[in-house]
Amino acid sequence: MKILLVKGNIKEFYEKHDTNSMFDLNQIIEMLKETDSTDRIKKMLPDDNSDYFLRAGDIRRFYSSFAEAFSGFILFLDKIRKINNIYLINPTFTLEHNLKKELGKFIVDKVYSYKNISNVSLVESYIWLKNNKIYGQNNALKSIHSSLIDYLDDKSCKVFLLYGPSGVGKTETIKSFHDIIHPDDKLTRVQFSMLNDEEGVEYVFGNDSSKKSFAEELLNRESNIILLDEFDKCHPHLYNSFYQMFDENKFKNNNYEIDLSNLIVFCTSNFSSLEDIKSRVGSPLYGRFTQIIKYDQINMFEQNRLLEKYIDEFYDKLNTEQKLEIPVEIIKNKLNDYLKPGLNAREIKREIRRVLNRYLFNIELKKYNTHTLPTSKKFNT
Ligand SMILES: Nc1ncnc2c1ncn2[C@@H]1O[C@H](COP(=O)(O)OP(=O)(O)O)[C@@H](O)[C@H]1O
Ligand SMILES: [Mg+2]
Repeated sequence: MKILLVKGNIKEFYEKHDTNSMFDLNQIIEMLKETDSTDRIKKMLPDDNSDYFLRAGDIRRFYSSFAEAFSGFILFLDKIRKINNIYLINPTFTLEHNLKKELGKFIVDKVYSYKNISNVSLVESYIWLKNNKIYGQNNALKSIHSSLIDYLDDKSCKVFLLYGPSGVGKTETIKSFHDIIHPDDKLTRVQFSMLNDEEGVEYVFGNDSSKKSFAEELLNRESNIILLDEFDKCHPHLYNSFYQMFDENKFKNNNYEIDLSNLIVFCTSNFSSLEDIKSRVGSPLYGRFTQIIKYDQINMFEQNRLLEKYIDEFYDKLNTEQKLEIPVEIIKNKLNDYLKPGLNAREIKREIRRVLNRYLFNIELKKYNTHTLPTSKKFNT
């Protein structure tokens, strides 16, 4: 019998192992609540030398007394029907500790590593983002991409703080970067504006295993990149704890000790200056950031590029009739007057939408035969 403690890139584990052909240990644990008859349990078990697995969520729900009795339980099962492999997915700290103490000779650590980031893909991402996605933030894009060259050389977790005004491309940079670098994996994104009260603190560093937690988010990450969005909006208590976590390359709570080697953390924020950052997050965390990257207001030239791009995108979605009726060049000129220093991409998009919707509405209005109004019962008040 082998007991494999599965950690790291769990998605990879599931891709390599067909858990459908394994037996879910949780079914037996559930049954144990109702019967302790060896005969009944034996009937439920698969043949000798089968593979078993137990999901992280089920492990987390163990009572501590059960975690302690787990070794005995495994030996008991193995006696009824010989076990081949047992995969324990993300065992809690206590379970791992007990198992290693009591069944050490059966234990194998199985760590699945995360995908690397090749230098070529960094260059590709930089060029694509600069030309097609994020306008007017070339310094920021270059800082981010160049900092990750040969990033595996140093195992420590890298933390980037992106700061600047709203709607200038911070979050979008990270989402698009991830799409290009790891197209098959989901980006782990935690909205820090949701963590601005005690409950938020509890979510991140709490030990209540029944609640959804930051630890789970980390354990289930599909790539070694996470986005802590709106990092400036969380409860200030969190900053010290984050310093510790980044500094030790480990996330610890009562349940888990999660290895954060080579993790890339992107924090986005609306901090206004370096001084602002230092005073809000405190010197230790400030000093721990791998890089602090400024995002600028979108200048007039880039606003213009954005305007053209958005209008073209909207226009492409129209049907032929609408296209004929809408004077796209006139709209572009008209909207040009709307641009002014300090506007962000969201505002530009909203204004284009507003103007185009007016045109679309007027087209509908023109088509409508007013003499037949009102036709519907709902107009008869
Ligand atoms: N510099 C930019 N170039 C192109 N699009 C941008 C830029 N900044 C923002 N956008 C667009 O505006 C929207 C909001 O951007 P986002 O990255 O969420 O802003 P924030 O800086 O507040 O995180 C997204 O749809 C994004 O594509
Ligand atoms: Mg954002």
